[in-house]
Amino acid sequence: MLTENLLLGVILSYLKIVGGSHLRGEIEVSGAKNAALPVMAASILTDEDVLLRRIPDISDVWIMADILRSLGAKVAFEGKGDMTINCSDISCVSPPYELVGKMNASFDVTGPLLARFGEAKVPLPGGCNLGSRPVDMHVEAFRILGAEVVCQHGFVHAKAKTLQGNKIRFRRISVGATKNAMMTAVKVDGITVLENAAMEPEIVDLAVFLNAMGARITGIGSNTIVIEGVKKLSGVSYEIIPDRILTGTYLAAAAVTGGSVTVIRTWPDFLESFISAMRSAGQKIICGKDYVKLEKTEKILPIEISSSPHPGFPTDLQPVITAMLTIAEGTSVVTENIFDRRFMYVDELRRLGASLSVSDRTCIIRGVPKLFGAPVKAHDIRAGGAIIAACLAAEGESTITGLEFIDRGHEKIESVLSDLGANIRRIG
Ligand code: EPZ
Repeated sequence: MLTENLLLGVILSYLKIVGGSHLRGEIEVSGAKNAALPVMAASILTDEDVLLRRIPDISDVWIMADILRSLGAKVAFEGKGDMTINCSDISCVSPPYELVGKMNASFDVTGPLLARFGEAKVPLPGGCNLGSRPVDMHVEAFRILGAEVVCQHGFVHAKAKTLQGNKIRFRRISVGATKNAMMTAVKVDGITVLENAAMEPEIVDLAVFLNAMGARITGIGSNTIVIEGVKKLSGVSYEIIPDRILTGTYLAAAAVTGGSVTVIRTWPDFLESFISAMRSAGQKIICGKDYVKLEKTEKILPIEISSSPHPGFPTDLQPVITAMLTIAEGTSVVTENIFDRRFMYVDELRRLGASLSVSDRTCIIRGVPKLFGAPVKAHDIRAGGAIIAACLAAEGESTITGLEFIDRGHEKIESVLSDLGANIRRIG
């Protein structure tokens, strides 16, 4: 085990967890990161004030705020999840690589800039290491709407004198391309039809937000979205939806520790496939209108799951359910169909004593009776959630580095988990 001094010498901060406590109690989940980020970007579409509520206090949100500021927008955190954005003074259509390179969702500003100013020059985005993250379908959508797009020297440069509504059929379902196409089409002349569009709750939230600004979008929540362009979008006050991925993460963490947790101010309807998988794994889950409760059960049963676009099993909950299955009574099979390198965290679970083997897109998990604490590292946001859950269940002490990923998506993670009885501390 690395000593605290050695860790402090090399790494700025880490989490120290002493596993074995059963998580117990009630927690309120924050607003959804993946809804907040595009809604912030969509605020570019109006020169009036936008007030957003339930914005999570996470580093991805701070990065998006800095990206908007780099363009000339005014962004203020008002406390308690409130944020105001005013984009009346935007004077630049090219955010810097230093910010855009930090997260994939930075590319969300491209569509709104193109729609409002007829031009966007945005570096290719960076972010979590989940496999290749091309933006070819975003670019194709901008072209179909009438933009000239040049991809050179690491930038996507889109320009248009006028944009015209059109039919866009995505060759595969993409959350990012659906968002960018929708945020462009709301302000073009004529009608745009998006076919094979993503149906994730965060896409629905973005569409509802845009309509609140005065957009005309129908087919929301289906795979065919119809957008009638309007000339002007207005300021609005809007509350972001609850984070379904964090809700699932806390429930799976409760299950792997043999605990009982209720997540409140959340929407169970967003989590149908996850809840159904958890029930198949022998977990007792009770859903109310705005809460989900996981009751203590004696054992975790092995299951087979396969990630797919909404309403299928979410890829973002694949790592944490895999972590839970490491101590199931039997062999589970988890298949990842969205990202080609999403199983990188498996090596970290092995350090804790889990037995997993990965071949191509499939992970076979042979349940072991117990996990044991170890030094481990998060390589992406959701891997971070999975590793934390596993360390909470593991006997003895674990240290987790890679907090720059964990902090991108988990609001006040150590205080949330401490409140549920976990022995977790941030060092450094
Ligand atoms: C969003 O990523 C989420 N990010 C991801 O959550 C989530 O895992 C993913 O959707 C799937 O649900 C945000 O909302 C900020 P995609 P996105 O476009 O938009 C390929 C998290 O931890 N593709 O649906 O990047 C792509 O490579 C993150 O919160 C192309 O080929 O996902 C992937 O294999 C991680 N060309 C697949 O489509 C394109 O032009 C789905 O990607 C675009 C995507």
